Amino acid sequence: MRVLMVCLGNICRSPTAEAAVRQAAGDAGLDLEVDSAGTGDWHIGERPDERMRAAAKAAGLELTGRARQVVPEDLTAFDLVLAMDRSNLDVLRSFDVPGARLDLYRRWDPQVPAGRDADVPDPYYGGADGFDEVVRIVRRSAEALVADLAGGVPAPR
Ligand code: 4NP
Repeated sequence: MRVLMVCLGNICRSPTAEAAVRQAAGDAGLDLEVDSAGTGDWHIGERPDERMRAAAKAAGLELTGRARQVVPEDLTAFDLVLAMDRSNLDVLRSFDVPGARLDLYRRWDPQVPAGRDADVPDPYYGGADGFDEVVRIVRRSAEALVADLAGGVPAPR
């Protein structure tokens, strides 16, 4: 199974979600291929943001890889494509790829009531707290996501 995480720059939220889900899948013994990409093109080829790497590392997550921009073909190549927020989900929907399985990452956040949409807040222009908050959100959601994926690709809501 292949899962793609998508945010705006692919240097903060989606690389962290990628690392958290990879770790949770490893812990659960689930064979999962995880990648991330951004809808924007400003940071292509860059390593994850230094502030994000520091917050992730403090929580035991190593952020590897370089930023890339999502392409419509990703929506066919991946079994599930998870947007970090609603604006990035809208961009993915605008690609209009038949059969694409798109969703919001926080659908699996145990602190978000069922049926309610929630975004992983963009930490880029804020303080250090925002990066720690991203780590907390993506971690707790990753566990629930992996548990769900063990039963196959979840149906759209
Ligand atoms: P990300 O954060 O989408 O979580 O990677 C951002 C990174 C860069 C920018 C915005 C958000 N930017 O405007 O350059």
